[in-house]
Amino acid sequence: MTPPETAAEPRPTRLQAQNVHVSFGGIRALTGIDLTIRRGEVLGLIGPNGAGKTTLVNVLTGFQAPTEGRVMLEDQTLTGMKARDVARAGVARSFQAARLFRDLTVQENLVVAALGAGLPRRAAEARAHEILDWIGCAPIAHLTCDGLSYGDERRISIARALAMGPSFALLDEPASGMNETECAALMQVISELPAQFDCGVLLIEHNMTVIMGVCQRIHVLDGGRSLAEGTPDEVQANPAVRRAYLGEKADQVALTI
Ligand SMILES: Nc1ncnc2c1ncn2[C@@H]1O[C@H](COP(=O)(O)OP(=O)(O)OP(=O)(O)O)[C@@H](O)[C@H]1O
Ligand SMILES: [Mg+2]
Repeated sequence: MTPPETAAEPRPTRLQAQNVHVSFGGIRALTGIDLTIRRGEVLGLIGPNGAGKTTLVNVLTGFQAPTEGRVMLEDQTLTGMKARDVARAGVARSFQAARLFRDLTVQENLVVAALGAGLPRRAAEARAHEILDWIGCAPIAHLTCDGLSYGDERRISIARALAMGPSFALLDEPASGMNETECAALMQVISELPAQFDCGVLLIEHNMTVIMGVCQRIHVLDGGRSLAEGTPDEVQANPAVRRAYLGEKADQVALTI
């Protein structure tokens, strides 16, 4: 799939959180997070509920200002930029709740995203069409988003992020609520994203089959701190990760976190 025509400069190779802290009043949601997403890879971001995963995506995409630390896209500082400008710089996201424009059609939702990323209308329409075709949603392009099945809603949420032509796509629990068949199809789609869209992917998921199946590396958060980072095998064998997920049972249970 072709990168957007507006991308005249070479595409950035990495998106980084550097020493990111976030506090909400007395709650420390993130403490000293360093994380690098490389273009061409799928990096998994896992951790128990409340670990800080969504907060980190909010920081990386300009929805949340860090209390301390910064976000870099190659040599460009993104910290302090508005979410819209971060998206235009090439960092797109999908939300934990789909947040589609429910009165617009599927196609229109993608066109709006592509226009927002700076594409002219005809290019935006062509791009929306191309992505819906690729992701297998062309037959529902004309439907309004208020009547979509849950699985389709999740797929359109990803497609909308891709319509922005991002260098980095950050997906917050795209498989939540999906059945096994839908999950398998989604894994295929996510695996192909880096090559198809010349991008890097950050994947937040509680479904470990999806995480272990598509990620080259995994970063683990727990209580707002980085607990581990490594290959799927390394992370599954890590005692601290096992304890975070399994608690006292960690020694007895064969790990399929
Ligand atoms: N806007 C906010 N105001 C106050 N506290 C917040 C806010 N957003 C998040 N938090 C708190 O920050 C911590 C991290 O939350 P976050 O949503 O990032 O976790 P998460 O890892 O995405 O969890 P989940 O797996 O449930 O989606 C939690 O303690 C949460 O209650
Ligand atoms: Mg979350």
